[in-house]
Amino acid sequence: MSSDPELEKIEKLFKPRTIAVIGASRNIAKVGGTLLKNILANGFEGKVYAVNPEAKEIMGVPSYPSVLDIPDEIDHAVITVPADKVPEVVEETGKKGVKVVSIITSGFKETGRADLEEKIVEIAKKHGVRILGPNIFGVVYTPTNLNATFGPEKVLKGKIAFLTQSGALGIALMAWTAMEGIGLSSIVSLGNMADIDPIDLGKFFEKDDNTKVIAMYLEGISSGRGQQFLSEFRKISKSKPVIALKAGRSERGTKAISSHTGSLAGSDSMYDSAFKQAGILRANDVEQLFDWAKMLASVDSFDLKGKGFVIITNGGGMGVMATDAAEANGLPLLEMTDDLKQQFRKSMPWFGSPNNPIDLTGQASANSYESAIKTALENDVITGAVVMYCEVGFLDPIELARKISYSLKTYNIKKKPVNVVMLGGEKTREAARMLDREGIPSYSIPERAVSSMAAFYRYALFRTGKSSLQ
Ligand code: ACO
Repeated sequence: MSSDPELEKIEKLFKPRTIAVIGASRNIAKVGGTLLKNILANGFEGKVYAVNPEAKEIMGVPSYPSVLDIPDEIDHAVITVPADKVPEVVEETGKKGVKVVSIITSGFKETGRADLEEKIVEIAKKHGVRILGPNIFGVVYTPTNLNATFGPEKVLKGKIAFLTQSGALGIALMAWTAMEGIGLSSIVSLGNMADIDPIDLGKFFEKDDNTKVIAMYLEGISSGRGQQFLSEFRKISKSKPVIALKAGRSERGTKAISSHTGSLAGSDSMYDSAFKQAGILRANDVEQLFDWAKMLASVDSFDLKGKGFVIITNGGGMGVMATDAAEANGLPLLEMTDDLKQQFRKSMPWFGSPNNPIDLTGQASANSYESAIKTALENDVITGAVVMYCEVGFLDPIELARKISYSLKTYNIKKKPVNVVMLGGEKTREAARMLDREGIPSYSIPERAVSSMAAFYRYALFRTGKSSLQ
């Protein structure tokens, strides 16, 4: 529990002892019905209450006409009543002593009703209630099995907290991340950010042991919070990696933002330099956001040891592509000494190449990979490795994935960063998902793996205050 009373309220969003759904519908096809169903279906650890003027019980949950009638303290209330009823409901949550409300309802600033939004903020402030939203799809926090959203039921557990200013994108990514094997600690829909914004949430996730990386989709920063955003995120990003996808790079995109969430979009170059100052990695698209996030969530140490990275491959062409990507992304590849070449030679046939990329050749076995990975992990001049596989008939990708996993568990005592490329058909996808589930970041093509390793490298330099490998 935090000693900061405001942070304590934010904590209740994620770890409430009790939660009430105000506007819980008897109809499962309505937003308030799906949301209650999701809370129940996920096995939320705390107590659940419904508020609905017409029902005594909904889906087996006791229901009351008003939050004031619930015979228990309420930590977090989710509001799913129409916009014109929200002020009265917020007033009641204030009187009840609710710590935080998430307001799903649309129809505020984003539709020209800034007055209605100001009214609910004023009421909440009077009572010391914090507001998430309005105009959101809800909150997920997997450590407490809380899915207070009207999105998909299941989210894969993991260590990435994802904050999103786009509701539709967030809902779509709930299912997409699960399909891709990307584990999340949390998903937070930011909506109009009438009160709680990424600064408040960043402070929570910085201290949250269940979160290793903060990933954000942003359209803009709350007005008047620019300086604070910079100074707080500079602190947060020193203890946890923060990655942002900032939409609205183009002029037309910037205009589209003001009609979406009503945020002040600002110029793109201003965000670029602000993110740099704050130590935030800026991703170009959704795929990159999660590629980098799963890489950064996989490592336990940001100490940069050694003199460069190695690429281990069974395909020469793939090695060349990875080398190009390393140069383009500023990832330093190790210059191999004769001694090191001799050591890697033991993992390959005579026609292989111990230069970097280390080409084990198309006839590489799972044992060749184990031997090369062991050499890379045990050798102090090597900082980290990108391990790549092109599907070939005689080396089953699943068998290789098991061997890679075994090799990392056995030899990665120094906690070096390692990621994997599995390029090929359906079985390589399965092997990649298997590795992802074990926390070994895997990618479908060399460029994605190298870009992710380079994101790790840039962050590690920032975090350790270095400018390059010595
Ligand atoms: N207290 C408690 N419950 C109440 C109250 C009250 N004061 N008043 C009404 N209710 C109950 C209703 O009786 C109803 O329950 P019932 O179905 O059992 O009768 C329930 O609350 C919902 O009320 P409705 O009037 O049926 O409202 P409806 O469900 O149609 O719409 C909603 C409410 C979903 C909040 C809607 O106004 C809205 O804002 N929708 C948009 C939500 C959204 O998209 N948010 C952004 C997400 S991000 C994205 O882009 C995906």
